[in-house]
Amino acid sequence: MTSARILGTGSFLPERVVSNAELALTVDTSDEWIVSRTGIRERRIVAAGETTCDLAERAARQALDAAGCLASDIDLVIVATTTPDRVFPGTACLLQERLGIHGPAAFDVQAVCTGFVYALGIAEKFIRTGSARRALVVGAETMSRIVDWKDRSTCVLFGDGAGAVVVGMSDEAGILSSHLHADGAYKELLTATGGVSSRGTGLHGGEGLITMRGNEVFRMAVTTLDALVGETLAANDLKQSDIRWLVPHQANIRIIAATAKRLGMAMDQVIVTVDRHGNTSAASIPLAFDAGVRDGRIQRGDVVLMEAFGGGFTWGSVLLRY
Ligand code: ACO
Repeated sequence: MTSARILGTGSFLPERVVSNAELALTVDTSDEWIVSRTGIRERRIVAAGETTCDLAERAARQALDAAGCLASDIDLVIVATTTPDRVFPGTACLLQERLGIHGPAAFDVQAVCTGFVYALGIAEKFIRTGSARRALVVGAETMSRIVDWKDRSTCVLFGDGAGAVVVGMSDEAGILSSHLHADGAYKELLTATGGVSSRGTGLHGGEGLITMRGNEVFRMAVTTLDALVGETLAANDLKQSDIRWLVPHQANIRIIAATAKRLGMAMDQVIVTVDRHGNTSAASIPLAFDAGVRDGRIQRGDVVLMEAFGGGFTWGSVLLRY
């Protein structure tokens, strides 16, 4: 049976590094507080004029190179983002044009931190049903544009970046299953209320930026991810010990550690990059996955579990054989 397999990966972080110490110059916080509560040491922030599509393009070109394919081989482009360049056209269309791809479907997916998992799950279904042969799937964000830089409880958490994969048809097993969920009843716990329909355009004089009830999000994330891991294993008739690598959404090291513990996995089986870029929302899983592939930890044939939880709430997982 045709499967969807990851053929190549790429990622890109903007040049400017903002350390915890630098943030402590503008809000009442400390490196010690941020590292002990979140595991984040620094984040990357885009330059003036640099956009989500700029980051997406760099990650996408790297993924195409790694997959050994040309842009013209791609017949589906999906960009997961909460921070698009424009209201429309979608960032996927802007990216498609930059890469010189003309004609195939291109659209954005908005599922906040779970966006990449949603996008990969959608691409997998296009490929498995024969609707696409090679998909470019990108998670890209400029979260710094919707962060309230005066709110210490959120501004220390987020960063900018992009990650990408090329997924192609294969006779060998690739993506084994995807599990996508959402519950909008939790919309107020983690939100950015700027919006076209409610406020005319995105942000208004510092309003409409990210707000979060961190404690409640934390508790929900841990219990929900726990159930999600169980659901994913059961659907594939696998045991915890069958998973070689956990590639979690990079929001908080304590949430990541709780999921690893549930899986009986040592932290050296978990790809952790949150210390280097903070929570990059939809970009975080492909950033971490690319890091694990490029440094040689994730090898062909390894079973990998990706999982994410974020605003909505949304949550989801992808289990794959790399
Ligand atoms: N520096 C110093 N002190 C701070 C900071 C800061 N940056 N932020 C908050 N504090 C203070 C608070 O004001 C509070 O002070 P008080 O006790 O005098 O009232 C104290 O620290 C404790 O605040 P809490 O919110 O209880 O701290 P907690 O241990 O819950 O950690 C955190 C906060 C890190 C946000 C945690 O709740 C968390 O990680 N939640 C998950 C949220 C998350 O990761 N969201 C991202 C998107 S969703 C996702 O991807 C999972």
